[in-house]
Amino acid sequence: MAILEKHKVLEKNVTLLAIFAFLAVTVGGLVQIVPLFYLDNTIEDVEGMRPYTPLELAGREIYLREGCYVCHSQMVRPMRDEVERYGHYSLAAESQYDHPFQWGSKRTGPDLARLGGRYSDEWHVDHLRSPQSVVPESVMPKYGYLEQRLLAGNVGLASGMLGAEDIGDIMGANRLVGVPYTEDMIEMASADFMAQGDPEADTSGLLERYGERVNVRNFDGQPGISEADALIAYLQMLGTLVDFSTFTPDASR
Ligand code: HEC
Repeated sequence: MAILEKHKVLEKNVTLLAIFAFLAVTVGGLVQIVPLFYLDNTIEDVEGMRPYTPLELAGREIYLREGCYVCHSQMVRPMRDEVERYGHYSLAAESQYDHPFQWGSKRTGPDLARLGGRYSDEWHVDHLRSPQSVVPESVMPKYGYLEQRLLAGNVGLASGMLGAEDIGDIMGANRLVGVPYTEDMIEMASADFMAQGDPEADTSGLLERYGERVNVRNFDGQPGISEADALIAYLQMLGTLVDFSTFTPDASR
């Protein structure tokens, strides 16, 4: 056949073959990827998803800074062993406000996507101080210094640390990449940051902006807002925003 005869030309000329292979891959790639930018339902809207509160977002920054993602994934795959161990498989919507996403590629420790509420705050404090005190065979490093680093409190803000004042800027940066933080949320960032870690505080504004289900507690049990407070607030929220007792996947998508 004539067309196969022509193909022989490609098979005998490396440069031509490379050029045509490149074109084939480019066109194939575009056909797969470009429609995703124009489909409204690439990520389905799921009830319960909300932007992270200022304290949770600060905790997430600490999670990134400490490299927790090197040992922990945040993505429950839809396979039976994973679902039985960790809970409902992860939805795309559950990482829609993560910039960058934390799916991870290595599990030295367990997946953390459904961690929220699995342990008490005290357990997290003990585990961060010394993982081996609660799980003797653990190879996780100790992070006890986090509770000594105050982000806000009676000693003020130390230089070089993430503080309550900076969190508005981080929220602004997240808004630039599409997280729907409102003007009000950014303006009240410091106040909301302080309120979530203090059970005595007036939390009506915080709950109005982020919903009634936000955890308001003194997470590390010590005065002031420490990095441990922020990190534990973040960990206790993971995987809890979508209510899976009422969630039904939309099969049409
Ligand atoms: C060197 C790898 C390593 C790093 C880095 C690491 N972890 Fe771990 N992590 C582990 C291992 C291994 C376990 C399982 C044993 C245990 O519970 O300590 C674990 C367990 C955990 C658990 C309990 C999970 C469960 O479902 O039982 C939490 C929570 C956790 N890590 C949080 C963190 C956070 C937060 C950071 C960053 C500040 C971090 N880890 C950094 C290895 C690591």
